[in-house]
Amino acid sequence: MKRTFALLLPLLFAAAHAEDFQGADHPLEYDHEPISYSASQPHDPISVVQQKIMSGELKLKWDEKFGYLPALLDAFGAKKSSQVLVMSKTSLQRRNISPDNPRSVFFSDEVYLGYIPGAPVIEISSVDPQLGGTFYFIEQEQVRKPKFTRSNDCLSCHGGQRTLGVPGHFVRSVVTDASGEMISLEEVRDITQCTPLKDRWGGYYVTGKSGSQFHRGNLIGEKDLMQFKREPAFKSNLTDLSPFFDTSKYHGTGSDITALMVLEHQAHMHNYIARLNIEAKLMLAAYGHVRYIRAQVDAFLRYLLFTEEFPLTQKIEGNPDYVRDFEAHAIRDSKGRSLRELDLKTRLFKYPCSFLIYSPSFDAIEPQIKAIILQKLHDILTGKNDDAQFARLKPEDRKAILEILIETKKTLPDYWRRP
Ligand code: HEC
Repeated sequence: MKRTFALLLPLLFAAAHAEDFQGADHPLEYDHEPISYSASQPHDPISVVQQKIMSGELKLKWDEKFGYLPALLDAFGAKKSSQVLVMSKTSLQRRNISPDNPRSVFFSDEVYLGYIPGAPVIEISSVDPQLGGTFYFIEQEQVRKPKFTRSNDCLSCHGGQRTLGVPGHFVRSVVTDASGEMISLEEVRDITQCTPLKDRWGGYYVTGKSGSQFHRGNLIGEKDLMQFKREPAFKSNLTDLSPFFDTSKYHGTGSDITALMVLEHQAHMHNYIARLNIEAKLMLAAYGHVRYIRAQVDAFLRYLLFTEEFPLTQKIEGNPDYVRDFEAHAIRDSKGRSLRELDLKTRLFKYPCSFLIYSPSFDAIEPQIKAIILQKLHDILTGKNDDAQFARLKPEDRKAILEILIETKKTLPDYWRRP
């Protein structure tokens, strides 16, 4: 009875709110067959690096100031420029985090690292194509062969409603008091590309310019929050954080506004991909078909194609190093176009289709549901599907994305390349 209700609930929700349905987020039973999250050996970037350490192929260099952090960033291809800083005591090593000693987060396409000056462990998470987010810590202690310890404790925050009901990643906006405790529960929001800038970045430091698109970054304490409400420009458009804490304790510079925006897109996109894959497999195991999650496919495509992205009205200017490092991995078509090109004037990306369409996790989505996604995506991009929910996608954007994908994404079905 309980089970039936749990299954019906998302369907009812989907029917009632078709136009604003953002994808179901009730927790899935990912620790049961056929997923068996905890019992399965991950095939993620972290297990690859662990094997290299054990075999002696890779030596993680110890740094006197930052411990294993610089070597880990190198090993996982995460750049210094991706640093963002969180001051709220909202995560695992809460005792070590405060506005004077924020937590730094670095990320690449598939790996996220959390480093707090003086804390005993570095937190690392990554993306496994079959399991979704995977979570580990590594001790900040110089040893011959450092070990990543997988931890399921992380799932109490990283494996529920906030992460679309699967193991995953997220960004919140929580204004904090001077010690880093959140002040008011109404301020909590889950942040994605769709969130207005004025609601973003409570509990984060933010460096970079956003003109008159003000945000809650850099606010510390009730007084700041009140002042922000009277005077929304307060503490937006900052480029230097040294008045707030000792910035020399950090490996990177600042808490880059562009990196934050990419992080928000990417974390939620990873969750959508993991959700669709895991839910499809559970549905197949239970019913032998994936018909019940069709509404999920639409929500997934709307996010992939940024149809509900919060529009920018002025230029975002962050650290140019981040833009350079991020675009360095661009896969380009013969006209030089890439889904990694940032726009930052009217929207995040120049071509509104997620670069994670190239990721191993996208390719690993359960084949039946992936076939439906690719068919629908093709229909949208060719203009055959003119459904109102994708209306924001302009004909020239559809055409450009179609052309880029045909040339650069190897694993598309043949009909994509037929004239
Ligand atoms: C008490 C809840 C909680 C626990 C437990 C927790 N986290 Fe988090 N984690 C968060 C929150 C909240 C964020 C978003 C940033 C913030 O508010 O600090 C986050 C962010 C992260 C990030 C940055 C990427 C992202 O999702 O934004 C990493 C990496 C991370 N956590 C790793 C871990 C690992 C590894 C563990 C377990 C060893 C863990 N976390 C346990 C709450 C938690």
